[in-house]
Amino acid sequence: MTNSADHTHQTQSSGSERKRPPRRGDIVELHIDDWGDKGKGIARYGRMVVLTDRGLPGDVVRARIVDRRRRHLVAEIEEIVQPSPDRVEARCKHFGLCGGCRLQDLDYNKQVETKVEHIRQQLRRIGKIDSVPDIDVIPYEPPYRYRNKMEFSFGGEAGSGLALGLHPRNNYREAFALEECWIADERAAQVVQAVQTFFAAGDEEPYDPVEHTGLLRFVVVRIGVHTDEVLVNLVTSDRPWPRADEFGSMLKSACPFVTTALWTVNDSRANIATGEQRTVWFGPGVFHDRLGPYEFEIAPTGFFQTNTRQAEHLFAKAVEWAAPSGDEEVLDLYCGVGSISLFLSQRARHVVGVELHEESVAAAKRNAERNHVTNCEFIAADALDYLRERAADGSILPNVVVDPPRAGLHPKAVKTLCRCGPPTITYVSCNPGNLARDLDLMKPVYTLNRLTAVDMFPHTPHIEAVAHLIRSERRDDT
Ligand SMILES: C[S@@+](CC[C@H](N)C(=O)[O-])C[C@H]1O[C@@H](n2cnc3c(N)ncnc32)[C@H](O)[C@@H]1O
Repeated sequence: MTNSADHTHQTQSSGSERKRPPRRGDIVELHIDDWGDKGKGIARYGRMVVLTDRGLPGDVVRARIVDRRRRHLVAEIEEIVQPSPDRVEARCKHFGLCGGCRLQDLDYNKQVETKVEHIRQQLRRIGKIDSVPDIDVIPYEPPYRYRNKMEFSFGGEAGSGLALGLHPRNNYREAFALEECWIADERAAQVVQAVQTFFAAGDEEPYDPVEHTGLLRFVVVRIGVHTDEVLVNLVTSDRPWPRADEFGSMLKSACPFVTTALWTVNDSRANIATGEQRTVWFGPGVFHDRLGPYEFEIAPTGFFQTNTRQAEHLFAKAVEWAAPSGDEEVLDLYCGVGSISLFLSQRARHVVGVELHEESVAAAKRNAERNHVTNCEFIAADALDYLRERAADGSILPNVVVDPPRAGLHPKAVKTLCRCGPPTITYVSCNPGNLARDLDLMKPVYTLNRLTAVDMFPHTPHIEAVAHLIRSERRDDT
C-alpha cells in the first residue's frame, strides 16, 4: 500500500468545501455513497464525482486517483478505513476474483433497497416524473441458487492447467477454475468438475477469443427448475476433436442427472455459445420447464427468463394489469416464445403475440398447442412495423404488454404506440434507465400508475421492473 502524506486530502462530509482538484497518484479519503454502472462505487470529492473500482455504500475508504475524465475522477481503493454497517461475509469462495455477484458482501435487504432507490432516481431524473408512485418490491429469498442458466468459459492451458469457470473481473479473455457458484443450481458446479477432470487428462486447448485459436469455448448448463431436466451444451471451434464421443459417455456416467447433452460447433469469431453444427450425444436435445401451469420446450439457445420463480411473479403482475376484467383482448409485443402470452391467456379473451425472431414464433405456437391454449395467436413481425400497420388503419389498440430487449423501445415505436392509444400499457423492463427514457417520451399520452420491482438477479446491480401506464384523455395525433 502506498501512502503519500503530502498528497492526502481529508474529505468533508458535506462535500461543499473548496478543495484543490486532486491529481493522478493522490491518495484521498472518500465516503462511498452508492454504486453505479457495472457496480462501481460512487463517492464525491468536493464537487467532483469519483468512481471507485469497488467499495460499498457506507464504506469510508482511502483511494488513489488513477484517472481524471471530463465529468469524474477514477480511483482505486487502497484501504477500507471504516467498513459499511451493511457489509456481510460473502458466501462464495470466488468472491472478489469472479466478475459476477459484485454485491455479495452487501446485506441483501440493502441491495434491494438501493436498487429500488435507483429506479426512483431514474424515473425522476431521466423520466422527469415529479411524483413517482410507491414502488412495490418482490425480493428473492433466500437470494441464492436462482439462475437456471449458466455459461462457463474455458481458460488456462491444456491438460492439468485447464480451467473451466467464469471470467475474472474485467477480463473476458480468461476464466478461472470454478469450484462453487452460489447463484446457480449445485448441479452446474458438478458438471464443471466432471468436465475439468475429463480435459485435465487430455491435450485439448482452450479457445482464445483474441487469437481465434484452440478448441474448447463454452459449457452451457440449463436447468428446468420445475421439471428437474438438465441440458448441457459443449461449444467448441471446428478444430479436429477425436475424443468427442468419449466426452458424451463420460458426461452420462459422471453426471447421471443430465437429461440431454449436445455438442455445438461455432467457428466464427463471435464469442457466443451458438453455432453452425449441433450433435446430440444423448437425450432429446431440448429441455422443458414450467412457468405457472404452462410447460415450455426450450431449445439449447432459446430465450427463457433466467430466474424461473421470479418470472412467475413478474408475469402474474402483467396479467393482473393487462387483463383486469378477464374479457380483454391483449397485444403482447416482443413476446419471445410466448411466455407472457400464455400467462395472459388464462384471463384474456384473446391474445396476439408479436415477435421478430421466427424460430421463437414457431416455438410460441408449439407452446400454445402443447398447453392446449386456443385463444393466442402469434405473428412474426418487427414490433414497429406491426404498430405502423395498425396505426395506418386508424386502430385503437387493446391493452398492450411490451417486454423489449435491454435497449428498450425504439423512439418511433413509442410514438406509434402513443398514436394507437391503447387504454393501458404494461411495460416489462430489464433496464429501468431505458424504461424511464421511454416513459418520458410517452408522457403526453401516458401516466405512470404503478410500478413493481422484481429482483431477478440478487448480488448484481440489475433489477427487473414492470410498469403500469394509463392513457390520459387525448391520443397523440401529432
Ligand atoms: C426480453 S425478451 C422477452 C421475451 C418474452 N417476453 C419472455 O419473457 O420470454 C425480448 C424479445 O424481443 C424480441 N425482439 C427484439 N427486437 C424486436 C423487434 N424489433 N420486434 C419484435 N420483437 C423483437 C427478441 O427476439 C426477444 O424475444
